[in-house]
Amino acid sequence: MASIMSYLSMNNGLRMPAVGLGTYLMKGDALKRAVDYALFLGYRHIDTALSYGNEVEVGEVIKDRIRAGKNKRKDLFITTKVPCAYLERDAAIKSAEMSLESLKQTHVDLLLIHQPWGNVNRGVGTLKPLNSKGERELKHHDLLETWSAFEQMHGQNWAKSIGVSNFNPEQIQRIWDKAKIKPANLQLEAHAYWQQKKLVEFCGEKNIILTAYSPLGAPSKPDKKPEDLVLLEDPQVKQLSFEYKKTPGQILLNFLLLKGMGVLPKSQNFERIKDNLDIFDWKLSSSDFEKLLKLDNTVKYFTNEWAHRHPEFDKSEPF
Ligand code: A2P
Repeated sequence: MASIMSYLSMNNGLRMPAVGLGTYLMKGDALKRAVDYALFLGYRHIDTALSYGNEVEVGEVIKDRIRAGKNKRKDLFITTKVPCAYLERDAAIKSAEMSLESLKQTHVDLLLIHQPWGNVNRGVGTLKPLNSKGERELKHHDLLETWSAFEQMHGQNWAKSIGVSNFNPEQIQRIWDKAKIKPANLQLEAHAYWQQKKLVEFCGEKNIILTAYSPLGAPSKPDKKPEDLVLLEDPQVKQLSFEYKKTPGQILLNFLLLKGMGVLPKSQNFERIKDNLDIFDWKLSSSDFEKLLKLDNTVKYFTNEWAHRHPEFDKSEPF
């Protein structure tokens, strides 16, 4: 099935499909059906992470589709991430090795440091180590050491591109100044309610492309605060949905594409998986784009409260 896809050019000459299927919290057969259907429709980018615990299923679907001649590996873009318990050099390398094995791949297209806030490493299987008080057990890690492991893995062709996620400008700059291979991508929470102006400008200067997770405002996040506004139900978004005859989700995704970001909507529902790809052959007018710009600074859904005690946590960010 042919469908339109657009691509974002990275600072290393490679390109990333602008829409990817997010897979956080997706598991088992429902995940497999979603990945299979997405690849059938024309998605070419699948986003996973070691900590999502679903790389085996993602890998099975990709392998089966390639074996059946339905997709070619060279057309696909697979992203995975090294979790914050594995930021030491050897652990980061082991983590990527485990991801490649689970995904049944010799390489991924993009490997990211999942978060800058290191955790104590209690070995394989303990991604979120707790202390005696039941709190996440944090540890300072030198992110330059992690990055040097990433450069090594890039050199071994385990990862065609390398980047970071949930980093602030200072953390990116620290890596940028010393890096032999510059970060190509920043993955971050971004949506109409949290547009990340500072990071957009900072990364724009370095030609680091941005990929928005939770572009629809994380409707499935289990521990959201009851007082948080629901982005998909925002009156302005609903009004534009009515005027353009597009779903609120499509309006929100089109908005982020117009801002120059890639998007990673998650869905296990076939209709919504299809809708979320149908965002390229139309666009919001500049005046409607402006209306959505005004929704900025309303809610950040991922407050990462566990990380607030961490030395790497940026207390200047308005949480
Ligand atoms: P479902 O799997 O039932 O489609 P986000 O990527 O912002 O975290 O949002 C993911 C959540 O949003 C999932 O729960 C998904 O549920 C739902 N979702 C995905 N696409 C759409 C859409 N176009 N409109 C409304 N909800 C959507």
